[in-house]
Amino acid sequence: MQTVDRINELKKSRNAIILSHYYQPPEIQDIADLVGDSFELSKRARDTEADVILFCGVCFMGESAKILSPYKTVLMPVLGAGCPMADMVTPAHIHQLRREHPNAIVMTYINSSADVKATSDICCTSSNAVRLAKAVPNNEIIFVPDRNLGAYIEKAVPEKKFILFSGYCPVHNNISVDDVALARSKCPGLPLLVHPECPVAVSDAADFVGSTSQILEYAHTSKHKELVIGTESGILHMLKKQNPDKKFHMLTNDFICPDMKKATLDDVLNALEHMRYRVELDNETIEKALSSLNRMLNT
Ligand code: 13P
Ligand code: SF4
Repeated sequence: MQTVDRINELKKSRNAIILSHYYQPPEIQDIADLVGDSFELSKRARDTEADVILFCGVCFMGESAKILSPYKTVLMPVLGAGCPMADMVTPAHIHQLRREHPNAIVMTYINSSADVKATSDICCTSSNAVRLAKAVPNNEIIFVPDRNLGAYIEKAVPEKKFILFSGYCPVHNNISVDDVALARSKCPGLPLLVHPECPVAVSDAADFVGSTSQILEYAHTSKHKELVIGTESGILHMLKKQNPDKKFHMLTNDFICPDMKKATLDDVLNALEHMRYRVELDNETIEKALSSLNRMLNT
């Protein structure tokens, strides 16, 4: 039997749902029940009736699904697909920042470990960060771990004081204003859409800044037939699928997150066949991290 047929068969017999981030390889996006950004996937993980969630993404995404659905079995197709930015901040960093800024609320980007979420007050994603920073009652916000997203929010919410941690996404942080200048000279007049994990100078030079799903929405509704994309290249698959009449240029040719490319269709099949690799978290971590995620979902 073909791999895809067997995956679909196992999905039914296990009552499983497959979630995929937009950065996953095309063949994995194609067999997923939902392809989305971090926010959509975390909401879907909460709302699904399935007994098993197979999360094709990186570790923090599987952990978020487990926190929101502690009684479900959450699987990831490979071990060790992590997010280097998420690993840059630890609970010890947060305790230290709280001591230094006792009146500040700790807002944590969803790209973080369950332990860090458990030490935080509220989570956010790149699609809701600005709205949440405005909505929380505190005037001081400790933002971890992404200094670039943090700086972007700081500019959008000038009425509040931000304490930014020094983490960054090695993939998006690599982009420079020189890359923007080169793309502008190669593709004159085309709109440039970037993710807020890029350095703030790159965001400032772009025509649109947004999460992966916001970039997709902008591209789809834009009157332009050609656009320049400044985020991980996996998004091209959905951009092309949704806009067969449009042409997309990547801001740089090496916009690739290696961790997002680790899983194969065989790994997905093996995950459902052998019910591996299970995301396990202790109850205390789940309870505390859930309160940060729920505060995000309910604000
Ligand atoms: P989105 O929430 O925009 O999908 O981004 C997740 C991510 O890891 C970006 O690098
Ligand atoms: Fe983490 Fe960057 Fe990869 Fe997103 S693209 S998962 S932030 S390393």
